[in-house]
Amino acid sequence: MKPILEISDVSVWFGGLAALQNVSLHVEPGECLGIIGSNGAGKSTLVDVICGARVPQSGTISMDGSTLPVEGPRARALRGLSRTFQGLRLFYDLTARENILVRAEALGVERPKEKTAAILLELELTEDADISAAALPLARQKSIAVGQAMVTDPTVTILDEPLAGLDGHGVQTVQDLIRSRLKNSNHSIVLIDHNVTAVAAVASRIVFMHNGQALLAGPTSEVLSSSEVSELYFGKTHS
Ligand SMILES: Nc1ncnc2c1ncn2[C@@H]1O[C@H](COP(=O)(O)OP(=O)(O)O)[C@@H](O)[C@H]1O
Ligand SMILES: [Mg+2]
Repeated sequence: MKPILEISDVSVWFGGLAALQNVSLHVEPGECLGIIGSNGAGKSTLVDVICGARVPQSGTISMDGSTLPVEGPRARALRGLSRTFQGLRLFYDLTARENILVRAEALGVERPKEKTAAILLELELTEDADISAAALPLARQKSIAVGQAMVTDPTVTILDEPLAGLDGHGVQTVQDLIRSRLKNSNHSIVLIDHNVTAVAAVASRIVFMHNGQALLAGPTSEVLSSSEVSELYFGKTHS
């Protein structure tokens, strides 16, 4: 299948540190791609590059076969590349509804109030819609961040550690949302998280990142049973 998103040979250096070294990977239409790797592997830097928050020193990002120009996060969001942040970056004094509405308005989404109401419904946030983000539990705050990412009806949504800190019910809610989004649209999702069991339950393919490299990519079961992942990520010596 022709990739919807293709990352080719991307490198990012922070001084002498190679946060990303010639990283290449692709996302297929309608798939959930998992990305796993230890802290510092380069996952969030990769998200920054894809979503226009950081210009790589080399490499290209293509969408639907066309190389994207150097451009900022707003332009990338309007193209359909959306993300959540590891540190949620909500407006904590604003309500759940206002957080999503502000984002919709900032991006010039049509009928932003209706769009916000539809997202609140899909994320089961309607009851909490008029409560300030600060007063809501983490799981709800994370849902608001997902809601903000959804305002543009993105083609690809990248969720950066959406499961961290959630209990079993919270994890299930995110997994259900991913499944229903994949079923109802041609939307692709990139799920980055350390909860490998939860990632494996929804991702058909996984990319394993290590020390700034995309070391391995393939079907979920193959990547998770590889000796590289066992040794370098799970910390086990493969027998
Ligand atoms: N703004 C920055 N300045 C300097 N180094 C950074 C910056 N952002 C990330 N790094 C470094 O780049 C590497 C990759 O970080 P990151 O992409 O956040 O990894 P991950 O998301 O996989 O934990 C780490 O060594 C991190 O310390
Ligand atoms: Mg990260």
